[in-house]
Amino acid sequence: MNRARFKKRFLGGVMGCFLGLSMVPSVMASESADTREVIWVSAGEKAAILSEMRAFLEASQTILEGSLADDMDVIEEAARSVGMKMMRGTPKELHKKLPSGFTALGPKAHRGFEAIADEASGMGDREVVLQHLAKLQKTCNGCHAIYRFEVK
Ligand code: HEC
Repeated sequence: MNRARFKKRFLGGVMGCFLGLSMVPSVMASESADTREVIWVSAGEKAAILSEMRAFLEASQTILEGSLADDMDVIEEAARSVGMKMMRGTPKELHKKLPSGFTALGPKAHRGFEAIADEASGMGDREVVLQHLAKLQKTCNGCHAIYRFEVK
């Protein structure tokens, strides 16, 4: 291949890559546009809420396992740990930044766990525990569909 042809091919390749790359993000963006409402929080606040979220997921998993093992003590402990006590720990400053939809669904999730803990310490019917958990997870999904956090 002579130099001129090589140069042409090389440049063509570079241009091709450039065009290809510049088109991909616009296609992807239109397919996966994030339409969730942004809640602006500080880095510390975001870390604190996400850590609560992971505790929610962990508790949910323990509740499932406890249900399979029919172990009400395990279920009660896991559910109580993310119940109303955790909710009362939310700092006032953060509370002011949260939209009303969020502050309605948040307590609903904590109350859902509290209901599971009450069932476990009361009648101890795992069928009822699972019904509560299924209903509670609708609250998780409902909120996740609406909001996301950004740090400011
Ligand atoms: C009141 C609203 C709300 C409720 C209720 C809620 N979440 Fe979340 N959750 C969020 C938001 C907002 C995020 C962050 C999403 C983002 O910024 O992309 C999140 C993130 C998470 C994450 C990711 C954590 C990380 O480290 O990135 C997990 C796991 C999670 N939630 C689990 C749950 C579970 C399980 C439930 C129900 C038991 C639940 N959440 C209920 C709003 C909620």
